Amino acid sequence: MTRLGDYRPLGRSGLRVSPLALGAMTFGTGSFCAGDDTARKIFRAYVEGGGNFVDTADNYSAGRSEELVGEFLREVDRDDVVLATKYSGPGFSDGEPRSDPRRRSNGRKNMVASLEASLRRLRVDHVDLYWLHIWDGFTPAEEVMAAFGDLVRAGKIRAVGLSDVPAWYATKAAMLGGPPVTALQLEYSLVERAIEAEYVPLAREFGIAVQPWGALGGGFLSGKYTRDGGGTGRLADGAPYRSLPETRWAVLDTVREVAAEVGATPAQVALHWVTRQAAMPAPLIGARSPEQLAETLGALELVLTDAQLDRLTAASAPELPFPHGILARLNAGLPR
Ligand SMILES: NC(=O)c1ccc[n+]([C@@H]2O[C@H](COP(=O)([O-])OP(=O)(O)OC[C@H]3O[C@@H](n4cnc5c(N)ncnc54)[C@H](OP(=O)(O)O)[C@@H]3O)[C@@H](O)[C@H]2O)c1
Repeated sequence: MTRLGDYRPLGRSGLRVSPLALGAMTFGTGSFCAGDDTARKIFRAYVEGGGNFVDTADNYSAGRSEELVGEFLREVDRDDVVLATKYSGPGFSDGEPRSDPRRRSNGRKNMVASLEASLRRLRVDHVDLYWLHIWDGFTPAEEVMAAFGDLVRAGKIRAVGLSDVPAWYATKAAMLGGPPVTALQLEYSLVERAIEAEYVPLAREFGIAVQPWGALGGGFLSGKYTRDGGGTGRLADGAPYRSLPETRWAVLDTVREVAAEVGATPAQVALHWVTRQAAMPAPLIGARSPEQLAETLGALELVLTDAQLDRLTAASAPELPFPHGILARLNAGLPR
């Protein structure tokens, strides 16, 4: 059994973090967000339970998430918290991505201006982990890593991470000789395992932590949605889950079976499986209520047998992209 207070290193950095990080994307004004008071309760429950790793971004609810995190941080010891925020994600307006090319840049100009704005909203003088949120498709890694290095030296950030970047880009960034890439934030769950082919091996090679987001598939793996379109929550708003492929529902069936066997909920089983994967010391969790948070935190207390974990792994096995399918067949059984 693991507890929130079982702090572990994040990649090769000196940061020590809880085994589950609290995502603050639900703090703010979006249709899938908790109200301010509920957000405060979620934050407090996480921190009072021993949690120390909080993740936000400058574009979550157009900055409101950072303002709320800043407010809540003033009610605890800020230095007890490993505070992470991100720059250069797309803005959202009425649910539509807004791609203003003047702001959607990973470049130095935007990075520095975004960090200054984030520090003001968070009401802190530094963040512990600063993420490039989403690759813009054109800024060279050299510029990003050099600018990150300057911010580390200026004392405004302690460590750097890359989120939603191509694997080749992360590899290049890790080899430039600038500040170490401490972590990669990427979507990963029983229904989204694409990163296993390239990102997980690269993370292990370079001592980088992978921090999964979407570990519950946006709520899908909680089991609250049904094939016939039942269920309420974020995914029901746009109803994309009604057209999900049958393979995803089959994964959920196995999650439900294992949950019934151990007397847990599907959300706990799905999240527990993620926490057991190599190189992923601190997956993100997102909650719209303290009840959801309490349930998902229960994933740390679960005990699953190797056979149960293997069943979940087999039921969700992705098709390997070239050349990994060939490599897996040819190299099976060879000593490593
Ligand atoms: N780097 C990136 O590009 C990126 C992208 C997305 C998220 N993130 C980060 O990752 C964090 C979590 O992301 P995520 O929202 O994708 O995670 P997720 O864990 O897959 O989904 C969280 C959502 O699932 C539902 N849920 C949570 N616990 C539940 C429970 N016990 N029972 C039923 N439903 C439950 C809630 O939504 P409903 O109540 O609305 O159903 C909740 O908002 C975010 O806060 C953010 O910090 C990063």
